[in-house]
Amino acid sequence: MSKETFDRTRFNKSANKPFEEVLEAQLSRRKILKGGLGLSAMTAFGAFGLTGCSASNVSAPLASQPSRSSAILNFDSVAGSLTDAVVVPNGYTAQVLVPWGTPLNSNPQPWKQDGSNSAFDQENSLGMHHDGMHFFPLSTDGNDGLLVINHEYIDQKALHPNGPTFDEGQRTSVDEVRKEINAHGVSVVRVKLENNTWIMVDNDPLNRRYTGATVMDISGPIAHTSLVSTKFSADGSQARGTLNNCGNGYTPWGTYLTCEENWPGYFINSGKQNDAEERIGIASDKTRYGWDTLAGDAQERLDEFTRFNTTLTANSHLDDYRNEANGHGYIVEIDPYTAHSRAKKRTALGRFRHEGCTFGKLTEGQPVVFYSGHDSRFEYLYKFVSEEKWNPADSNPVNRLTTGDKYMDKGTLYVAKFNDDNSGEWLPLTLDSRTVDGFTLGSTFKTLEEIIINTAGAADLLGATPMDRPEWCAVDPITGTAYLTLTNNNKRKEGDSANPRIDNKFGHVIRWDEGAVPTQFEWDIFLFGAPENASAATNRSGLTDLNQLASPDGLAFDPRGILWIQTDNGASEITNYTNDQMLAVVPSTLVDENGNSEVINASNQTQLKRFFVGPNGCEVTGFTMSPDLKSMFINIQHPANWPSSQDATLITTGKVRPRAATVVIRKTDGGEIAV
Ligand code: FEO
Ligand code: CA
Ligand code: CA
Ligand code: CA
Repeated sequence: MSKETFDRTRFNKSANKPFEEVLEAQLSRRKILKGGLGLSAMTAFGAFGLTGCSASNVSAPLASQPSRSSAILNFDSVAGSLTDAVVVPNGYTAQVLVPWGTPLNSNPQPWKQDGSNSAFDQENSLGMHHDGMHFFPLSTDGNDGLLVINHEYIDQKALHPNGPTFDEGQRTSVDEVRKEINAHGVSVVRVKLENNTWIMVDNDPLNRRYTGATVMDISGPIAHTSLVSTKFSADGSQARGTLNNCGNGYTPWGTYLTCEENWPGYFINSGKQNDAEERIGIASDKTRYGWDTLAGDAQERLDEFTRFNTTLTANSHLDDYRNEANGHGYIVEIDPYTAHSRAKKRTALGRFRHEGCTFGKLTEGQPVVFYSGHDSRFEYLYKFVSEEKWNPADSNPVNRLTTGDKYMDKGTLYVAKFNDDNSGEWLPLTLDSRTVDGFTLGSTFKTLEEIIINTAGAADLLGATPMDRPEWCAVDPITGTAYLTLTNNNKRKEGDSANPRIDNKFGHVIRWDEGAVPTQFEWDIFLFGAPENASAATNRSGLTDLNQLASPDGLAFDPRGILWIQTDNGASEITNYTNDQMLAVVPSTLVDENGNSEVINASNQTQLKRFFVGPNGCEVTGFTMSPDLKSMFINIQHPANWPSSQDATLITTGKVRPRAATVVIRKTDGGEIAV
């Protein structure tokens, strides 16, 4: 999310000190992971990669899996840019596709430049502030598919003709607030390549919106419990809406995962908050957009605004919305291929500010693993391990969401502890798990369901490592190594080995290999963001003007083992030089003479290349490719004055109403991207 709307409160007030010693000794830490780890276990993973999850893309495991990617980045790093246009390397084109407000069917009015579209229009059109995204193919040639796009939050100024209307702190327009709720959520859009240009298919039966009000099923341990029973859903089976959908994931069985990130600020409890509400940061004063202030309006339907107020107002939880927020903070599974299917909130994966959700290396007969970071200062990294063992036949199931039930509703959630010696431990969030003060979680929580509702509070008790804002995770299809962006943390006063820089303005990328047992891993730091002219203690990766970066955020591997790093950057040292950007590197090819994996350093930093720069004011986020690897889709979120035409590289002249949009990058000669 953007720097402007991030809540700067430190929610984690636990005494979990990172580590006692602060460690100049860690400054130049370069723990080398062994080359080629996990190769034998990678089997089918490379076949899935980012190329989509339908069975047509799944092939049998290769007899001999390569230990290094064969990809060589064949473009020149682009210079920084500070314009109202995007920049791509020579020989590439960039096209604007499906900007905010594009109608998905024939019901709404076309998008209007003056911001006057209605809530109804917005419900039937692309949402705002595009973020995580995935391409689900509908043909083998890669020219037809479904683009599923998160809409993280809104720019109220751009959404309405003259910004939001308030009267003494109260919202006054029902249609305006409904429009805001409808601009959140997820879009599913049929797209096709015709004459070298991607188009949206109007009125396709699979085009659809999930908004901040769409009814969804609650699945997993919390479902059908009193913890999520409300006046709206007395049996605790459903919740309304998905909010602040930031990073994303997808599953090996062909579904999309949308991640609920900074949702706590949409809800208010102005009375006495319980531990879970306090820990996660439910608002106590005012909500982000003031939707709750329309509660009781004569036009209100089914408590659509009242529900954002979780304060106790009745004698029973069945007569108020004290539990409404308990239906939020999850990974939500969507089946884009099945029209009218309901989304499912997968509560077994924990409740926190989920940035993304990425599955680990897949092995037949082994559990399916998902990683998810909690994006807030001093929060944690989590891993979910399914109870069910992976069966490759499930890569093309008859019912995708039922397959999701199988792998995502039962399992164990772990939180990461990064030890000083580059070993790591996954600490289970179970009732019998030992706390740092010698008790068990069962002495604080009565049930697993209670642990899930207060996932971060339980993780505090186990001694998890507070990180510098965990954002996206990505898993190398060649080696199985997992990478995580730690975007920044300017409140860090003491370093630790995994978060070594105090006042971490520029962020870093950490990575790990799973160990021989599910509770162990081994980690090192792959990349430190920094300005090129910073001291060696800050610019630890030896970056130059051709790849200097700050605040790594979006992160994805493509099926060839190319790692794409996107930035959401608030550090003036970098923003004076360039707008937000996307860089590429092939980690499995960074190997020393002994075959050991290397991190980015002064001797290999030319392997980290800047591929893309966004327009002024934006964040670059979201990544997916067509199966033929000839089209790359990325998102421009919260641009200041863009786009002025379908050509994303055209510099805007004058002032336009800014629109988040997907940008499609292709090679002029139609070839595979980047190589
Ligand atoms: Fe929504 Fe953590 O970025
Ligand atoms: Ca961010
Ligand atoms: Ca964002
Ligand atoms: Ca993000």
